[in-house]
Amino acid sequence: MRHRPPLLLPLFVAAALVAGCAADTGVQSKRADTAAPATNGSAPGTTGPASTVPGSVPATEPGSGSTGDGVGDSLFPALGNPGVDVQHYDVHVTYDAVTDQLQGDVTLSVHLSGDRPTFSLDAAGLTVTAVTVDGKPAKFSTDAAKLRITPASAPGSSVEVEVVYHVKPTTAPSAVGIPDGWFNTPGGSYVLDEPDGARSWLPCNDHPSDKATYTFTITVGSGVTAVANGVQRDHRTENGHEVWVWQEDRPMATYLIQVLTGAYDIVEGTGPHGLPLVSAVLTADHATMQPFIDVTGEQIAFFEKYFGTFPLDRYGIAITDSFSGLAMETQERSLFSRDDFSGGRLDPSTQLFLSHELTHQWFGDAVTPARWRDIWLNESFATYGQWMWGEHVGNGSVADSAAAALASRPPGSSADPTVDQLFSYNSYDGGAVVLQALRLTIGDASFFQLLQQWVIRNNGTSRTTDDFVKLASQISGKDLTKFFATWLFADQPPSSFPAAA
Ligand code: ARG
Ligand code: ZN
Repeated sequence: MRHRPPLLLPLFVAAALVAGCAADTGVQSKRADTAAPATNGSAPGTTGPASTVPGSVPATEPGSGSTGDGVGDSLFPALGNPGVDVQHYDVHVTYDAVTDQLQGDVTLSVHLSGDRPTFSLDAAGLTVTAVTVDGKPAKFSTDAAKLRITPASAPGSSVEVEVVYHVKPTTAPSAVGIPDGWFNTPGGSYVLDEPDGARSWLPCNDHPSDKATYTFTITVGSGVTAVANGVQRDHRTENGHEVWVWQEDRPMATYLIQVLTGAYDIVEGTGPHGLPLVSAVLTADHATMQPFIDVTGEQIAFFEKYFGTFPLDRYGIAITDSFSGLAMETQERSLFSRDDFSGGRLDPSTQLFLSHELTHQWFGDAVTPARWRDIWLNESFATYGQWMWGEHVGNGSVADSAAAALASRPPGSSADPTVDQLFSYNSYDGGAVVLQALRLTIGDASFFQLLQQWVIRNNGTSRTTDDFVKLASQISGKDLTKFFATWLFADQPPSSFPAAA
């Protein structure tokens, strides 16, 4: 069975594998029509969709003055802002799905390091009308990628920065060449921000190395529901509008933000050891989607046996009216497309989507990559979790999934993707192969202890591949330098797995 052509997500390749099309490795070729031209992070993206769509900024921007403005991400040199460490975002947005107009007012609690008479935030295509720092009007300017702020007087090390802005949100191809940002749907909206879409609707420090807590106050039309990460704090009616307040208390990267507006039902339940479950499904879909809501607790209990206690405060699923193939590990409530779940049945494909994004809550959300090149710490681990759940429900063993992935693996290190390879085979199945080889090398006990310790020690922070490599040697008591050199960092890993330890 083939799905309709994969839109964007390599998850579809994995789905095809589950469905028995193990030879399909055509991620790159299938994405070629929508992908930005290949760039290695230093090659300027001067042609192709990414540089021509408003609100989208290529990974590097020749002549824009903002190249290298960022925090030194080798794949996205413009992202992030030196000296800026956001502690909390108090986000207020008013959204009208008919006019597709967003008005925003965000207050960022920021730690500034060093002596900074000026500092910047990521903001792409926003019309900024006012900025204050500690309540005093500040000078500001915007360009394609940045909001540059000069406070009236020398700022202290902790400041409150308020930005008032508006935007007609764009669903632009990101620097990766697949769309991200704020998507307008019939009667509502959703966001898919990975890797660089948040800045197209929210002034922020748009880099995974800077996690913060959030409050979202979302004002929508009468009868419309708004959902965001975390716990619902309020819902009131004001001047014929609905105001929804959600709060995320766990440190979160900007790319993991969830904002949904539309005709949603919020479905509450309880998971293992009293874990609150909060899901959101379109009212019209509620009955169809109930089986997927119902399996959530069981999936969490399964993964807790291997990955340790669920690392965040709650979980749930949100199923929106996006294009098919969308699946995103938005923190504490993963996002899916109704088109992929319209059958209302737990089949290999829906099991795969659900288990993949749930695994991300440990690997990606609780512990976040410090740099985009560390993406395998997200996608390979989520792919491995998806294999484990597949084995559990009788959709093929981990060993078979790993063998098929190794056989299909194109050359290239999973730890060193180019921008256009961020969501390609070796970030997903190719890196899950590395985890299977590691498991065989150090044994099940050390392997799962490593995964648990990775999350326990690093929950709430952003980490690099080197951090994982170090912890692996420490936990296993083995010098794994040669293992990682061979399996992770080399362009071409061995063609067969090591014998089990
Ligand atoms: N992290 C998602 C996953 O679990 C992929 C998101 C890809 N980004 C995008 N803008 N489509 O596979
Ligand atoms: Zn993923």
